[in-house]
Amino acid sequence: MKTTAILNLKGGVGKTVTAINMAAILAGDHNRRVLVIDADSQCNTTEFLSPARDGTPNTLADLLLMPELAGSPGGYEDYISASNVDGVDLLPASDELMDLDLSTLKSGVTSAGVLRSLLEACVEDDVYDNVLIDCPPAFNAASAAALVAADEVLIPVKLDAFSLQGMANLLKQVANMREINPRLRVAGLLPTMWYMDPLIIQAEGTLREKSGLHVYGPIRRSDKVNAMTFAQEPLRIYSPRSAAGIDYRAFVLEWMGGAKK
Ligand SMILES: Nc1ncnc2c1ncn2[C@@H]1O[C@H](COP(=O)(O)OP(=O)(O)OP(=O)(O)O)[C@@H](O)[C@H]1O
Ligand SMILES: [Mg+2]
Repeated sequence: MKTTAILNLKGGVGKTVTAINMAAILAGDHNRRVLVIDADSQCNTTEFLSPARDGTPNTLADLLLMPELAGSPGGYEDYISASNVDGVDLLPASDELMDLDLSTLKSGVTSAGVLRSLLEACVEDDVYDNVLIDCPPAFNAASAAALVAADEVLIPVKLDAFSLQGMANLLKQVANMREINPRLRVAGLLPTMWYMDPLIIQAEGTLREKSGLHVYGPIRRSDKVNAMTFAQEPLRIYSPRSAAGIDYRAFVLEWMGGAKK
């Protein structure tokens, strides 16, 4: 099982769109058993993958706020349910994730290792091939829990100056997390919303030459991505021949080439 945290401290760079489409492609095209964890209090992934949830009590916030709930063997089953994408399960977010930092501050208790314990139980029972964690655009208790649990970080980037300026800070945070989770590595950067423009091409070239990281893709900008969020179907179903639909497929193949189970 490989656990990938999809992270960028910058908002609106395509983390959620990447998590959803990667999950659908891994499950639908490559027969992988996939778990998506929504670590963002905005709940975009949860709403997309499981819009009709009827107040299921257990979310990532419950797990992180009340870690004793996860204590029992097989306890992960209480947090995970099937999503509306075949082959993809979901551990949902809730807006209670917003309380998490406050409660961690008050109690001084950090529950960052709980998610990792839950995933270790999944490894023991061999239930998933890939776990994708959609992180919030912030370094908070939920993203810390994600980085403690993950094998690797995948960083979607929008090729504008603001996004690129935040990169050094992001890489520093990831490097700091290695003290707690030494196996954590950066899988690479995934430029999103790419279009033919001299500045975009220059920015991509700079990343490839100077970041010292693998640069995947890119994923082209496509109107079908916005439409997909309304249709609540991943591009693989909604618009597989759109530019972004094609690029996400190619990206997953490239990523799988370097990513062992
Ligand atoms: N390839 C693309 N082409 C066109 N629009 C895109 C593409 N990828 C993402 N978008 C759009 O960009 C916006 C932000 O995407 P997304 O929600 O995935 O970003 P995010 O990094 O998860 O944001 P946040 O930090 O708020 O969680 C959305 O409106 C989405 O539809
Ligand atoms: Mg998001």
